[in-house]
Parts: sequence; C-alpha cells; structure tokens
Amino acid sequence: MEKKDKIKILILDDEKQFTEELNGFFVDSDFESFEANTVAEGKKILTNKAIDLLILDVRLPGVNGLDILKEVKSQYPFMEVIIISAHGDMETVIKAMRLGAFDYLRKPFRFIDIQIAIERTQKYLQLQQKLKQMEEKNSLISRTLEEKIDRQFIGISPQIQEVFEQAITAANYPDSNVLITGESGTGKENIARIIHYSSERKDHIFCAVNSSAITKTLLESEFFGHKKGSFTGAINDKMGFFEVCNQGTLFLDEIADMPFNLQAKILRATEEKVITRVGDTNQIHTDFRIISATNHDINKRVEKKKFRLDLFHRLNTLHIHIPALKERREDIKPLLLHFVDAYATKFNKPNLHISKEAFDALQKYDFPGNVRELKNMVERAIILSKGNILEINDFPVKPHNISSLKEHPDSINLKMLEIKTIRQALQSCKYNQQEAANALGIHRDALSRKMKKHNITVGRSEA
Ligand SMILES: Nc1ncnc2c1ncn2[C@@H]1O[C@H](COP(=O)(O)OP(=O)(O)OP(=O)(O)O)[C@@H](O)[C@H]1O
Ligand SMILES: [Mg+2]
Repeated sequence: MEKKDKIKILILDDEKQFTEELNGFFVDSDFESFEANTVAEGKKILTNKAIDLLILDVRLPGVNGLDILKEVKSQYPFMEVIIISAHGDMETVIKAMRLGAFDYLRKPFRFIDIQIAIERTQKYLQLQQKLKQMEEKNSLISRTLEEKIDRQFIGISPQIQEVFEQAITAANYPDSNVLITGESGTGKENIARIIHYSSERKDHIFCAVNSSAITKTLLESEFFGHKKGSFTGAINDKMGFFEVCNQGTLFLDEIADMPFNLQAKILRATEEKVITRVGDTNQIHTDFRIISATNHDINKRVEKKKFRLDLFHRLNTLHIHIPALKERREDIKPLLLHFVDAYATKFNKPNLHISKEAFDALQKYDFPGNVRELKNMVERAIILSKGNILEINDFPVKPHNISSLKEHPDSINLKMLEIKTIRQALQSCKYNQQEAANALGIHRDALSRKMKKHNITVGRSEA
C-alpha cells in the first residue's frame, strides 16, 4: 500500500451483475476497485495491481474458494481478504477465518454492510502501514547509532591524525592485510572497524576473533569449519571464520597468542584464499581480508620462535601503530569532552561539566589503560555524580598518585593485591569471566591475560 494512495480493492465473483453493482458503488469513493468474474482474470489483476483488499466469493464454480484463499494469502501476505459465503455455511466461514480471512459477508447483504467491513479493514491496513514505517525508521536509527558508537574517532594530535590517514589508505587497498599495534585500550579494534567500514568490503561481514578466548581443541574447526561427523560434537556441517568472512574482513585480535601449530595453516589460507573444512576434502574459495592486532612486541615473539616470521610478514603488509594516550596528551581533552557528552546523553544528565581542577589532573594522568580507561572513568563518574559538575574526586586519580606506578617498591604487594582483587571479582560473579571483567572495569580479554599471567585458573569445582 503506497502512502496516500487510494486503497485498491479487487472483487472476485462469478456473478457479473454483482461485481458490476459493487464496482459502481465504489465509484467516487475513497477506494479504487477492480472486478473479475473468473479466477484467471482475478490472478491477472493481482499480479499487475498492488491490491490491498480482495473481496472473494468462496463459492466459485469448479474451484474451491478456500484453496484460492490459501494461495493468495501465501503469495500476498500483506493483502487482506473479505470472503463472501452462502447463507448458513458457517463451516466455510470458520475455515476461511482460520486461513487468514479478515472478515466475512453473507449473501445477500446490504452495501452498508460491506462499507463497514471495508472501513474496518482500511483501519487495519493503515495501522499495519504505520507499523512498517516505524519499524523501518527504528532500524535506520539503530543502524546510525550503532555506526556512530562503533566508529567514533576522536583525536587532534598529529600522531592520531596520522593513524587516521593510514587507516583511510588501508581502506583504499581492501585486499592488503593490516597489522595494528598499540597498548591495550588504545583503539586498535576501533581503527580496524573504521578501515572495514570505509572500504568496499563494508556491506559484508566484519568478524572479530580473539583466538586466545577459544578452546584450543576447537580452534581449527572455528577457523576452517568442519564436516558433520568429523569429530565428536560435530553434529552439523559448519562454516569457519574464513568462509563466513567471504568478501568481508576478519579481525584477528591478539594475534601474538595464536598457537604455533595453527599459524602455518592460517598462513596457507591467507596466501591461497582457499580452505578445506576439517574432515572434508573439498576446497572452498573465500575472499577475505585480515586485519590483525596485538599489544605485544611481536618481533620478540618472532625472535623466540613463538611466532612464524613468514606469517608475520604476510600479516604486516600495512602496519599501523597507535601511540599510547600519554604520548599524545592533546587527545585527552577532546576525548573527555566527547565521552562526557555521550554518557550525559545516555544517562539523561544534561548540562554536565568537568571542573578545571579535574581537567588539569586528568591531563597529567598517565592512563595505563589508555582510551578504554578514560572512557570507563567518565562513565563511572557520571553515574555517581550528584550535581552538574564532575569534580576531581569523581575520578579515581588524585594529584599525588598521578605519576607512573612502575617504580613502586612494593610491586610484589601490588601483584598480590591484583590477584586478590581478581579472585574476589571472579568469586562474587560466580566465575562468569565477562561479569567479573565488567565488575573490574576492564575488558574481558584483559582479564584473561591477567589470569594467565598470574596463573589464576577457574577449576571445575569452582565453575
Ligand atoms: N580515537 C578514539 N575515539 C573514540 N573512541 C575511541 C578511540 N580510541 C578508542 N576508543 C574507544 O575506546 C575503547 C577501547 O578501544 P578498542 O577496543 O578499540 O581498544 P583495543 O586497542 O582494541 O584494546 P585491547 O588491546 O584491550 O583489545 C572502545 O570503546 C573504543 O570505542
Ligand atoms: Mg581490542
């Protein structure tokens, strides 16, 4: 149904006199009507005109009207049908309503009866149209919001401007692999998304994979897919990441942690753009681009023979390094303003400002967790703030503890404290690592890394 168009009605009845009469009744009305006296005529009109409402006689000679009803409802699900039945044929009426007819009329009927029935249908059609428009609008809004949230890029420092330019160059070469390095929370995934969504691959999938978060035994099948029955638990054929990312981008997060035995296979897939599912022999072509990221010194891993040099070269066609936030302090202010604005809107606290004192202290703070830390800090401060001004006390930085913690003489105690805090968080979140990471205000991957580093395991009895 087009906007503002007249509702289009088709009258399908074998009695010519009846269809003519009814058609005449619709002249000069809000409806545009068509008539058909055979099923063939009716179908022709249905294909050529966008009919909104069908008035259908279910007693057509030689055909079962209910079959026609079933057929048109499945072919034109948005068209409504009013059926005309014989007096006393309640059984047909009930069947027709079950098949999706909107209303029924029994012959003989007065024109006023049909008018009322049509007006009721019209209201319903209009409501449906409104709903459809709202749904479209909604999905448009959420899409715009999503794109905004995922790909905000804030920063004025020459270093970050250069990163942005490199990202745009990478977007223009959609088949070259990109390696993004930088400390945790500097925005590596953010840049990877910007590259993908600015490239010609943007209408296809962006799939972010962190191999250290996947059970080792399943890694190969997650990447390459598997054939049903190829191992216990493979109950269906399954596509792997390489296949899913056909024409899109595969983002390999924390690439340095990729198990050595899988690296050769990943290299081959990346070079040949051909994969074979586990337990299968068929070769499948797939056209993906790899953007990988790491916050480790991957050169050292190569030196220690933990990372294959050939794979490193393959992934490193374009290299983008994102400097730590403390190396580009000019970006702190715009980032702060941006996140204050975003969270003030989100939590419905308009007119929020940061005090000068807080600003000055934050400008000097080292942000070991980089942009992510700054973002989480602002979110927490805004949630807890009472008035209109965010004060220094609303942020977990004090002027005297702004210097780096690296040289702390009691690093052992700090380590113990970290272990204790992580254990407590895990315990209170019933060993749900995502929840524990949220409670600690860190990324889930960071939690996994810390757990690995401190040998914190979640045993069966605990989990
Ligand atoms: N320049 C920026 N502008 C706006 N938001 C940013 C910027 N850089 C990072 N962010 C935001 O900071 C958060 C952390 O960024 P991201 O997840 O991309 O970091 P990362 O380098 O992948 O971290 P990790 O190494 O821990 O995985 C995200 O919410 C991201 O949207
Ligand atoms: Mg990341």
